Amino acid sequence: MKRYNDIKWRESMRVRLDYNKMTADFLTGEDAITKEQLSSYQDKVREAAVSMDEKRKAGLMKWRELPYNQQNVVQEILTTAKDISEQYDDFVLLGIGGSALGPLAVNQALNHIYYNDLPKSKRGGKPRFFVVDNIDPERMSALFDIIDVRKTLFNVVTKSGSTSETMAQFLLVHDMLKRHVGNDYAKQIVATTDEQKGSLIKIAREEGYKTFFVPDGVGGRFSQLCPVGLLPAAVCGIDIEEMLAGAAYMDELCSTHDVYANPAYMGGLLQYIAMTSGKNITVMMPYADSLKLMADWYAQLWAESLGKKYSLDGQVVHTGQTPVRALGVTDQHSQVQLYTEGPFDKVITFLTVDEYRNKLEIPKGFESLPDVAFLGGQTFDDLIKAEQNATEYALLKAGRLNMAIRFPKVNAFTVGQFMYLLEVQTAFEGELLNINAFDQPGVEEGKEATYALMGRPGFESKKKELDSREPNKDEYII
Ligand code: PA5
Repeated sequence: MKRYNDIKWRESMRVRLDYNKMTADFLTGEDAITKEQLSSYQDKVREAAVSMDEKRKAGLMKWRELPYNQQNVVQEILTTAKDISEQYDDFVLLGIGGSALGPLAVNQALNHIYYNDLPKSKRGGKPRFFVVDNIDPERMSALFDIIDVRKTLFNVVTKSGSTSETMAQFLLVHDMLKRHVGNDYAKQIVATTDEQKGSLIKIAREEGYKTFFVPDGVGGRFSQLCPVGLLPAAVCGIDIEEMLAGAAYMDELCSTHDVYANPAYMGGLLQYIAMTSGKNITVMMPYADSLKLMADWYAQLWAESLGKKYSLDGQVVHTGQTPVRALGVTDQHSQVQLYTEGPFDKVITFLTVDEYRNKLEIPKGFESLPDVAFLGGQTFDDLIKAEQNATEYALLKAGRLNMAIRFPKVNAFTVGQFMYLLEVQTAFEGELLNINAFDQPGVEEGKEATYALMGRPGFESKKKELDSREPNKDEYII
C-alpha cells in the first residue's frame, strides 16, 4: 500500500496554515485582525465560495481536476521518464514563466540540494536537470559548454506554442541537434504544449516528436500538476503519484465553505483584509533552502493572477500585492530590519518545516568562550527553528502581520498539498477582488510588442504603434 493511502499518515503530513499572529488575540496594534472583522466578511466569503464552486462545475477551473483525471497520462509520463533516464545524461527544459517556475521549485524541494553536482550513481541513475528560462545569450551559450547535446533530452514546454523566448531556444537546439546528431534528432525532443493551438504542435507532428499536452483550461501558472511539471519531476525520480495525492488531499480540505476550516479561503481572506488596510506587499519567507524556489513560484502565481487593472464589471481597480521573496535565515541579515521597523505595508508568510530531512549536531568546542560554547551539543535544526521563532516574535512585538504555512516534512505529498493550496487561495483571492485571476493582459501586451519588434508577420500595425511612441530625446539620457 502506498503510504498516502494510510489515513493516519496523511493526517500526520497535513500542511497547516497558522494565522495566530495575524489576529488581535496575539498581535497588538491597529493592523491586528479581530474576530468581528473576520465575521463582517461572512457574506462576501459565502458569495466567493459559491462562485468558486460554480466556476469549477462549469469547467472554468480545470486545473482543480488534475489530481483526479490523469491516470493514463501519469502512466505514460512514468514510462517516458524511465526511457529518458536510461538513455540520457542530461534533461533540459526550455520554457518560461508558468512552464519553468514549478519544475524548478519542485526539483529543488524534493531532490538533493546539489542534485546536478552529484555523480549519476548518487542521483539514482537519473539525468542532470536544467531549466533554461531566459534568453540571455551568454547563459544560452554557456549551457552548451556543460552538456553534450548528443546525450541530452530537450523538453520544449509552451502552452501557447509560440512564446518568442521558448521558440528561439527551440530553434537553437533544433539546429544544434540536426548538426550533431543527424537524422535521428527528433527522438531527443519532447514537446509539451496545447493539443490543438500554436505552432509547436504543428512542428511536433510534422517532425514526429513525442508530445504531452497542457490540458485545455489549465493556464501556465496553474500547470505544475499536469505534464508541464510532472514529466520533469518524474525524470528526476520524484514520486509524482504522491504529489498528486497530496494535491487531492488538499482539495478535500479546501472544498468546505467554512472559512475557519479551509486554509486556502482563510489565507485569501486574511490577505484581502490586509490589502484593504494598505498591505500592498506580500513576503514569502521559507526557512528551508529546499523551499526557496517555492517563493519564486508563488510570486508569479500571485502577481500575474491578481495584478489587474479591471474588475469583472469593467471598473478600473488596479488590484494586486507585490510579492517579495526572502529566505530564512539568510534574509534575517538583509531584510528583516525593514520588515520589523519599515512601513506598515507588508504581510509576511513564513514557510516552516517541523522535521528536516537531516539532523545535524553542532559539535562542542571552545568551552572557555561562553558566547560560542553555548551552541555546542545543540543541532542546526534547533538553531534554524529558534531563529524562525525569534523572527516571528520580533514581528509580533513590532505589530507586524505575519502567518506561517507549516510543513510537517518536505516530501512529494506535502509539496503537492502546498502548491494546490496556493492555487486555490489565489483563485479565491481573485473572487474576493472580483477580478479575472486567469488571464494576463499585461504579459500578452509585452509578448505582442516583442513579436512586432522582431518582425513577426501580422504585427505590422503594432510595430507602427511602437515606433510612434519610441522616445528619441537625448535630453533625458545622461
Ligand atoms: O502563467 C502564464 O500563463 C504565463 O506565465 C506563461 O506560463 C508564460 O508566459 C509562458 O507561456 P507559454 O507557456 O505559452 O510559453
